[in-house]
Amino acid sequence: MVTNISGKLIKSVKSVFGKQPARKKAEKYHFDLYGRYPITLVKGKGCKVWDDERNEYIDALAGIAVNSLGHCHPDIVKTIQKQSAKLMHVSNFYYNEPQSNLAEKLVEVSGLDRVFFCNSGAEAVEGAIKLARRYSFQKGKTGVILTMDNSFHGRTLGTIAMGKDKYQFGYDPIPSGFDRIPYNDVKALEKRMDENVIGIVIETIQGEGGIVEVIPEFLSKARSLCDEYDVPLILDEVQCGIARTGKMFAYQHYGILPDIVAMAKALGSGFPIGAVAAKDDISKAFEHGSHGTTYGGNPLACAVALETLRIIEKEDVCDMARIRGNYLKTRLEDLSTNWSAIKEVRGKGLMIGVELAFPGADVVNEMLKRGVLSNCASNNVIRLVPPLIISKEEIDIVVDTLIESIKIIEKND
Ligand SMILES: Cc1ncc(COP(=O)(O)O)c(C=O)c1O
Repeated sequence: MVTNISGKLIKSVKSVFGKQPARKKAEKYHFDLYGRYPITLVKGKGCKVWDDERNEYIDALAGIAVNSLGHCHPDIVKTIQKQSAKLMHVSNFYYNEPQSNLAEKLVEVSGLDRVFFCNSGAEAVEGAIKLARRYSFQKGKTGVILTMDNSFHGRTLGTIAMGKDKYQFGYDPIPSGFDRIPYNDVKALEKRMDENVIGIVIETIQGEGGIVEVIPEFLSKARSLCDEYDVPLILDEVQCGIARTGKMFAYQHYGILPDIVAMAKALGSGFPIGAVAAKDDISKAFEHGSHGTTYGGNPLACAVALETLRIIEKEDVCDMARIRGNYLKTRLEDLSTNWSAIKEVRGKGLMIGVELAFPGADVVNEMLKRGVLSNCASNNVIRLVPPLIISKEEIDIVVDTLIESIKIIEKND
């Protein structure tokens, strides 16, 4: 047994094995795809979740940067109840009010001109790359899309072809038409750019790659090269978008506008939705029937996303993310100055990565036992992407738990 930060006893990982009917059923009936932590979550409220043994956790992972307004925000719950009792799905053969209103709102907050809705991050990125291909096809050209080393864009065949080798393993033949270059290497980008390139895709902040921010010089060089060659600059803001970094979109920190942006995750506060926003001329490369989806843009998902954006604006959630993020980052940076276990603290707003001097999996397990959920990106980076409404006191618990957990792993090594 170990105690969590409030002195409450939490079961050891071992004692959980053999209990939990949900776990047993999943192990028997679900594809064995995920390395899951040994708890079954049954309830959430704000920044906290509870398991089926009534243990309480602070959720510093937020469903991988999804639950930005916390779990079960009362206005989101109300919106789901109201809209689901009215109209859930009609297909894109018809107009629906929440979809049109959400499109209008996303145009306003993104600075782009038109929007297409889908259901997930990978689908949004797929939509974005299909749009880039159509744009070049209409100019009578085919070519390659440049993507970045260490990037992650999803798990469809198209999106695994763009990112890390790790996710391509065993899936040959991998779709062609992508060429990876080193992230943040301005010279490599300049050297690789030519008439054969039909688009550039960048995660404004790499998430799965270990919370690595694009440097301003790289992004502005990509912007100017895309202008010079008349090809779209595509930003993947699936993880870093929708207020997480302290602005609605992370590119708004850099004073540039992409041609296409992919978003998902926090847009639906936990309800699945993805979207692609684009400049008007580029969006027109899609014609009737050239792309589409059954569920994308359904009234229920759009009503939830619209409510999410309303709450973000009304409750100044961008400001919250910035202020609390600065507090979290400063506390972690202070620690790292005199502690060799922490190599670097990175990120913006509440998208923070703590790079350790050793693999982070055991630290994540220790944190879980002490009542804090987090995860490990890129082997040795603890990813902290809590709800943006997290309080200062909850941040202190997360940091204290992280410190305690690192110390334990360091001692055991
Ligand atoms: C930057 C980025 N793009 C795309 C995706 C894929 O999103 P989804 O898992 O919703 O398909 C992710 C998921 O983590 C992501 O972080």
